[in-house]
Amino acid sequence: MRAQITSTEPFLSGDLQPPPDKSISHRGLLLALLAEGTSRLDNLSSALDVAATGSMVELFGASLETEGSVTLVESPGIAGLREPDGVLDLGNSGTGVRLGIGVATLVHGVSVFTGDDSLRRRPMGRVISPLQELGASIWGRGGDGMLPVAVRGGGLRSGVVHLRVASAQLKSALLFAALGVDGPVSIVEPTLSRPHTEELFALTEVGFDEDVEEQDGSHRVTVSGPTRPSPFSFRIPGDPSAAAFFVVAASCVPGAVLTVEDLYLGPTRAGFLEILAQMGADLVLGDGQVTVQGGSLEGSEIGGRIIPSLIDEIPILSVAAAMADGVTTIRDASELRVKETNRIETTAGFLRAFGVEVMTLPDGLVIHGGLRPGSLRGNRRRVMANLDHRIAMSAAVLGLLAGGVTEIDGVETVATSYPAFFSDLDRLSSATIHLDGAAKP
Ligand code: S3P
Repeated sequence: MRAQITSTEPFLSGDLQPPPDKSISHRGLLLALLAEGTSRLDNLSSALDVAATGSMVELFGASLETEGSVTLVESPGIAGLREPDGVLDLGNSGTGVRLGIGVATLVHGVSVFTGDDSLRRRPMGRVISPLQELGASIWGRGGDGMLPVAVRGGGLRSGVVHLRVASAQLKSALLFAALGVDGPVSIVEPTLSRPHTEELFALTEVGFDEDVEEQDGSHRVTVSGPTRPSPFSFRIPGDPSAAAFFVVAASCVPGAVLTVEDLYLGPTRAGFLEILAQMGADLVLGDGQVTVQGGSLEGSEIGGRIIPSLIDEIPILSVAAAMADGVTTIRDASELRVKETNRIETTAGFLRAFGVEVMTLPDGLVIHGGLRPGSLRGNRRRVMANLDHRIAMSAAVLGLLAGGVTEIDGVETVATSYPAFFSDLDRLSSATIHLDGAAKP
């Protein structure tokens, strides 16, 4: 599907209710699978990535039912997990597949995982090796490095695993696997990654200990199994990574006013707000609320320990950098190279389609800003989304801000995280949007 965004005088105003958080939705479903009984998830994400995790949860033996805004998950719990009678296809979802591999170590029998063209290119060794270190039986294509992957459940022992990168996906896969181990499993990551699994553990009466190493700031979390989560009720808050597209858009347009409600604002997800404030954005934070008044931004330095808390927001922060005065340098973000696409290259690619001067680094980008709102209104350009939802949405926002006509191919990928993105953009902004040449969404 192709989107065409036409913009002359960029403007944005109104209230945004962002979609439910994707990271928390995946974990809610998986933890509900591991809890014997019925759990209630209110406001579960309708993104395709989360739907793929829902199908996996059903193949592992739970049943899902929707009652209004609530998803009821009825499960036999860890002891009753079923060997899937089909291949678990997680589509585009790195989180779904990596967490699923951890859960599969709790299942008697063999679970087989695959995904779409993007996911089959992404590294799986980073989740397979630490689980193998604990004794798991896992095989994957390319020397246990890629999908398809097969897991034979059982056989894990207690131990300490050191992760090279701060990754919530790897930590969570290990935390789920640890529930079935006889004895403690500790996971040490260089800095705290998003702690949504731990937050949900607290609701399901799964005990864990955490400590931070004073010398190097590394973070350790320990679960002592075997342990059985209890069923729970939980309402999923709004997704900051989705809201970021509109927060950045509003920050760059003088006179714009946007209020975002019902947001998850934990520190491990709010790094983009800190950087926008550093760039001069006018942001007021309340309880789950952000109000943005548009103005002008200045380039900034982004790097170091803040990176894990904004890794998914780098493509849209790069849009802010293109619209800002001066140069923005992004470092310490080599993880971008192993996302849905190589986001160092694909971010540079869509910025260049707008004439922005960009240099790529092994671990980041140098972006020369200075684009003015609406200054490219006489121009056209074309961008390929390449199975990367965040590249498609970032390019659409830059299309609104820079002006002119922006064609983006492959925008169906947006539904993996934010199905209502184009209708929200249409409602909140002055851009005219055509999907596949058809009328407004
Ligand atoms: C996620 C963790 C991050 C993030 C991804 C979602 C999660 O990946 O980029 O979009 O829900 O655990 P890493 O764990 O690889 O850092």
